[in-house]
Amino acid sequence: MAIRRIKTHPDLVLREHAALVTKVTDELIMLSHDMVDTMYAANGAGLAANQVGVAVRLIVIDEHLNDESKPIILINPEIVRTELEDTVEEGCLSVPRFYEFVKRPKLVTVKALDLKEEEIQIECEGQLARALQHEIDHLNGVLFIDYLSPIKRDFFKKMFMRPKR
Ligand code: NI
Repeated sequence: MAIRRIKTHPDLVLREHAALVTKVTDELIMLSHDMVDTMYAANGAGLAANQVGVAVRLIVIDEHLNDESKPIILINPEIVRTELEDTVEEGCLSVPRFYEFVKRPKLVTVKALDLKEEEIQIECEGQLARALQHEIDHLNGVLFIDYLSPIKRDFFKKMFMRPKR
């Protein structure tokens, strides 16, 4: 297992529509384990494969339960139901040092395959529901900054484009 380099905005791979996984290969399993390691090494709550430069429909999420971290690996995840809405501050490992409030559905049901190619369904709310939506967005080439109002987007551009010292 290894820690991979996380691609950051404006890397074009983050804008790719990731391809459906048709078969769980050894390579895909290795990638998913590397992504779990990479997510925890970066203190992230989730990671999509295109964030490490591989545009396939694979995400990993940290399901934080009773102070214990447990990774969930999802292949071809799909949102099948949403309910209610809330607005919570988000960040992204591919958009370092920037946080902003984003409105999203509060409850989601997600369908996906696990590493054994078995179908699983997750019904959740709160942090986990938000992380799932954020990571599935990545697979569609969408970043959380795309939801910003024009004024905040402008602010983001100025802040993000400022040369680093
Ligand atoms: Ni992200």
